[in-house]
Amino acid sequence: MDEKLKTFYELYERRKSIREFLDRKIEKDKLERILETVRRAQSAANRQPWHFIIIEKEHTKKLHEVLTKEGFKTAPLIIAACAEPQKAWVRKADNRNYAWVDVSIATTELISAATAEGLGTCWIAAIDPVRVKEILGIPAYIEVVGLIAVGYPLTPLVKEEKNRRPLEEIIHYGKW
Ligand SMILES: Cc1cc2nc3c(=O)[nH]c(=O)nc-3n(C[C@H](O)[C@H](O)[C@H](O)COP(=O)(O)O)c2cc1C
Repeated sequence: MDEKLKTFYELYERRKSIREFLDRKIEKDKLERILETVRRAQSAANRQPWHFIIIEKEHTKKLHEVLTKEGFKTAPLIIAACAEPQKAWVRKADNRNYAWVDVSIATTELISAATAEGLGTCWIAAIDPVRVKEILGIPAYIEVVGLIAVGYPLTPLVKEEKNRRPLEEIIHYGKW
């Protein structure tokens, strides 16, 4: 296998949800590379119906009340991933709005880029979105998809076995 591809797969082997972080600031250049990766993400009809709010250490405290796990409060960076449904592509056949799909793709890219930078992340969906909107001054027409805790992991990212459904259960060849 090509050495670069090997690195690509290793990145996905190492990623896991991190729920406790070191008290270490994230370097500016790392954050810039991560955000540039987000900017380049694909989206349906290239509508890019997303916004990301970057909340760094000095300001993460204001979000602590919505965090369900104590460890999340150690994150030096929290990113609010938001959707703007009015900007998104809508599939005519069933009127399905793709905003959350697109935001999820960009967020996954964010998480992969952060992993490549040696950072840990956790996608946090279990929040009160109304309260998050109040705290961050998010306009009514924007939806909060999730908060992403980012930081240096308390324990290093290493390849581990995953609790996942077997391929036979989830992959269908040719038909259901
Ligand atoms: C959309 C989404 C929402 C999630 N919300 C939470 C959450 O609210 N709290 C939490 O502790 N983990 C959350 N997670 C992390 C999942 O629990 C985790 O991805 C899953 O257990 C698999 O573990 P792994 O990420 O370590 O591979 C979320 C993950 C995703 C993709």
